[in-house]
Amino acid sequence: MAYVARTDRPADKSARYAEVTTEIMAVLEGEPNRTARMATVASMLHDAFDSFFWTGFYVVDEDKQASGTDELVVGPYQGTLGCLRIPFGRGVCGAAAATGQTQVVEDVHAFPGHIACDSRSASEIVLPVRDGAGQLIAVLDVDSTEKAAFDSVDQAALEDLLARAFAV
Ligand code: SME
Repeated sequence: MAYVARTDRPADKSARYAEVTTEIMAVLEGEPNRTARMATVASMLHDAFDSFFWTGFYVVDEDKQASGTDELVVGPYQGTLGCLRIPFGRGVCGAAAATGQTQVVEDVHAFPGHIACDSRSASEIVLPVRDGAGQLIAVLDVDSTEKAAFDSVDQAALEDLLARAFAV
């Protein structure tokens, strides 16, 4: 099916998430490649919300992991240049990877160890991404130029999307 960018999106955040999740799942139908799935999620999510400034994945580096180092490496994303590598435990992405817990940060400049890839980023949400076996494969990082842009609505909607798109 062809994906057509929408201009008549619902104003309500939950409704918008529901709509874009349906659209993303339709595009992903039958596509097993993980990079293609991540690229699709990053592109369509980024396009769905004007407030999203950087939207993308940091994936668990399996080569590093094999040699005993836990590190994330940048994956498919939309936005300005992102840092290439983030050790587990560093910054917001590293915290999500190390703890396996979603991080909602209202003010990134107040977050200890925050990695400032772009100083315009003001708030962010980072969610662990797991495969069907429950193994951590990546984190999804969404940044906004507005402070406190993310809340429990974003968390619930994005956790649902990630479970449907990757825990399969
Ligand atoms: N904000 C992230 C770094 C990645 S970028 O913002 C693209 C962090 O501190 O984990």
